Amino acid sequence: MYLTNKNKNQMKKISLALILSACSLCAIAQVNLISNIDARTAVDLNGKWQYIVDPYETGFYDYRYKELKEDNPEAYWNTDVQQNRTEKKEHGYVDKYSINVPGDWNHQQPEFTFYEGTIWYKKSFDVVKDHTGNKYFLYFGAVNYRADVYLNGKKLGMHKGGFTPFNFEVPQALLKEKDNFLVVKVDNKRHADEVPTLNTDWWNYGGITREVKLVVVPGTFIQDFVVQLKKNTTGKAPAKSPEVQGWVKLNQAPVAGELITIEIPELKYKKEIKASGQTTALNFVLPKLQLWSPETPKLYQVIVRTQTDRTEDKIGFRTIEAHGIQVLLNGKPIFMRGISIHGEIPQEVRRAYTQEDAAQLLRQAKELNCNMVRLAHYPHDEKITRLADSLGVLVWSEIPVYWTIDFKSQEVLDKAKVQLEEMIIRDHNRASVIIWSVGNETPVSPVRTNFMHSLLTRARELDNTRMVSAALEVNYSALNDLNIVDDPLGEFVDLVAFNEYLGWYGGLPDKCRTTNWDTPYNKPLFISETGGDGKGGFHADSLTRFSEEYQEWYYKEQVSMLKRMPAKYVGISPWVLNDFRSPRRNNPFYQEGWNRKGMYDEKGNKKKAFYILKGYYDQIQKEKK
Ligand code: GCU
Repeated sequence: MYLTNKNKNQMKKISLALILSACSLCAIAQVNLISNIDARTAVDLNGKWQYIVDPYETGFYDYRYKELKEDNPEAYWNTDVQQNRTEKKEHGYVDKYSINVPGDWNHQQPEFTFYEGTIWYKKSFDVVKDHTGNKYFLYFGAVNYRADVYLNGKKLGMHKGGFTPFNFEVPQALLKEKDNFLVVKVDNKRHADEVPTLNTDWWNYGGITREVKLVVVPGTFIQDFVVQLKKNTTGKAPAKSPEVQGWVKLNQAPVAGELITIEIPELKYKKEIKASGQTTALNFVLPKLQLWSPETPKLYQVIVRTQTDRTEDKIGFRTIEAHGIQVLLNGKPIFMRGISIHGEIPQEVRRAYTQEDAAQLLRQAKELNCNMVRLAHYPHDEKITRLADSLGVLVWSEIPVYWTIDFKSQEVLDKAKVQLEEMIIRDHNRASVIIWSVGNETPVSPVRTNFMHSLLTRARELDNTRMVSAALEVNYSALNDLNIVDDPLGEFVDLVAFNEYLGWYGGLPDKCRTTNWDTPYNKPLFISETGGDGKGGFHADSLTRFSEEYQEWYYKEQVSMLKRMPAKYVGISPWVLNDFRSPRRNNPFYQEGWNRKGMYDEKGNKKKAFYILKGYYDQIQKEKK
């Protein structure tokens, strides 16, 4: 392609803008997360780990509650068991006390069901060290909530946030060939100044809930990269040969003359770009390709190479934008037939973390005829967003800024921003993910709106190719026939999304007959939650709350109300796919620690309301065809 001076300058301007945004990313991001981890060589550290339950944190503080020094043999990151009978050793790791990783601790031992506190995990492992200058990183898919990580008695770091990945570099000198001992202090206690805060309507499963691995990478390696279609603001379909905009970030400045190669074998496409620094902008046009959509979830193998490193991923190419009052996927308006999902497998009362778990949850959603899922209220396991890519399911991904967070605190905002960055870095090449949500049902106030606005701005800085949103709350005490969603945060989101429970938290279901909804914002409108409890198998007349008949009636009235929604109404993700554990639900007859708003009960049985919602989606699908 011959470049005139004019477009040479344009290219310069574009690449400068991209580098600046990429550098703004590096500058602010204290997150040195390695993305696309599955493509990396690694030592699998999953399996049985020994543990010590430590509610008083005796392994961390002395009896004066002062943090123990690193070399203090009393500290639980020093693991040797009692060596001889005269030795006073009051802790140790033995197989008798073992637990599975990944996995929450609550479902593994009955005495842990309600446990909130500290448990120490220990894993021994051997490594064949190669002395070729490779780097080693300990990678955790997620640990709820605070993780203090030690290797061979040395502290590697501390991470907070129960649903996003993190990694710590392991200094070569610290790593041994034999008997490395890895200790993780896991503490899932809730605090007012954390994210989430003290109160949630979900079970506070604790533990090392997702995979752990020792990742091996070259000295200079590809830390993260984005290969996505350029943000579409045209309202039109992307060009047949669409434009890619992205970047490649190395862990450190490249050697002089370093070349970065992007290759897409199936498209016989190969592009070499001279590295322009630690982060290099990508901007090129691809040959004609199959765009990704729920109907055609086409993924392409994308290989990213440097002189010393190579990684690859399966990526779908699509554009998504809020355009006026519509949501356009590849330039075409879509309606999101959604369902909200918790990252839980109810029939085993545990956090979801396996490939089968992801398959079960998306299969259940597809049986409802959904084309979209809202992964609530925290980033779910990476397996489900990758599976959504290949199954063609649109995804709303959210950070747990839930209910009444301490919006006044800069420190809390920073904690939320770290989780936001980790969520986006992990999944910014997932075609299925179309919405980043920065929170749920946060009470309206200027300090809150500033807090949330700052998160929305940060999300756009990190990734401007997707929509940003948050689940807004409606005030039931002020319900009228026409309810206006005018939360001030609506001004800053791309998608105005709100939760309404008309007929459960507000009046009886027939209230829907005289109720309408709208928003003053000239933006797409989405209902991110609606629902009522129905205990599976409990049958009565439709006026009896908690019966399947009441829930069925609830959905019947909702569906007729939804038929009167304004043109800007682009979808809904009812609450919720499955009944789920909640410490807030203690009706002894109908709830017993379960939120019963599922379309499926905790054993996986469909409830009567399931068929009402599916019927509505089948009809919508026919109409929108
Ligand atoms: C809220 C909230 C959910 C909760 C649901 C309910 O709106 O967002 O987390 O479980 O309503 O009350 O069942």
